[in-house]
Amino acid sequence: MVADLEVLSNVVWTQQVHEDYGGVVPELASRAHTERISQAVIKALSDARLSLNEIDAVAYTVGPGLIGALMVGSAFAKGLSLVTKKPLLEANHLHAHVLAHCLKSNDRQLPEFPFLCLLASGGHTQLVAAHSPLHLEIVGRTVDDAAGEAFDKCAKLLGIPYPGGPALDKLAQLGKPLHPIARPVVEGLDYSFSGIKTSVLYYLRQQSRANHHFITENLPDLCASVQEAIVDTLMDKMHKAMAKTGFSRLAVAGGVAANSLLRKRMAELASQHCQVHIPPFSYCTDNAAMIAAHGHFLWLDGRFGSLNTAPMARIHSL
Ligand code: KG4
Ligand code: ZN
Repeated sequence: MVADLEVLSNVVWTQQVHEDYGGVVPELASRAHTERISQAVIKALSDARLSLNEIDAVAYTVGPGLIGALMVGSAFAKGLSLVTKKPLLEANHLHAHVLAHCLKSNDRQLPEFPFLCLLASGGHTQLVAAHSPLHLEIVGRTVDDAAGEAFDKCAKLLGIPYPGGPALDKLAQLGKPLHPIARPVVEGLDYSFSGIKTSVLYYLRQQSRANHHFITENLPDLCASVQEAIVDTLMDKMHKAMAKTGFSRLAVAGGVAANSLLRKRMAELASQHCQVHIPPFSYCTDNAAMIAAHGHFLWLDGRFGSLNTAPMARIHSL
């Protein structure tokens, strides 16, 4: 629940079920959404000390994402809208990650527009020129895997259970980047991450032939090496995008923005005449407040949703 970009409650229900399968299983994700969505909304109202008739509008995600989960959210939001007679606001998942920066927080300055945002999640990696809250322009994007996907896939190769990104980050903090992992080369501001995964795969195969315990004996250093390769790649294009756009206000968003090395590298840029905005952890990974933040700006602009809108798994614009 968000009022004037102030977060009154932010209920996030992490689905444990996927850990048993080593990845997200779409049908299980949809079922878990159905099981939990009513309780999540009741808890959000109760945490915010609001009753249903006190809300002004219902923001929900139209996409992009897993279609089954989106349909559960969309049907529930439409039901709420009909019951409360309050308008719908159709938020875009990726746009909302960028607008998470606009949520008020005591201890940090909010970014002024325009700013350049690196949006790196499990499904997407984009460089976004944020001209204003509702005018976001993608200036670079991944041509294959997303950065979060690269973290998760490399973690899997190293025997780290799903979701591997956060665990790989923790282990990397105990090691040094001593192992040679290839950095992909792509023209312009676009990214590629599939080469990192392949490089890790071949390196592990080669080393494990000589020493069966290679991975377990070198795990923290291997994690540090993978993390450095992914973060170097992210930062390289960030520097190029800064030079191209001339923007000196920078931000990171999406689940990968929780990565400790990426946060460190971004913070280092702050000492080079740049304003750097890094959201609190709870606003980096998927959360309800960021959807309400996008809803807030749609509301101000009078862009209301329709009961006829169908959610979409893929949306290429922001
Ligand atoms: O934005 P998000 O919560 O969900 C999507 O929209 O995809 O991002 C999830 C991704 C996962 O791939 C996860 O491994 C990665 O973000 N992630 C991290 C860290 N925390 C989450 N990757 C590296 N280091 C982290 N600390
Ligand atoms: Zn996300």
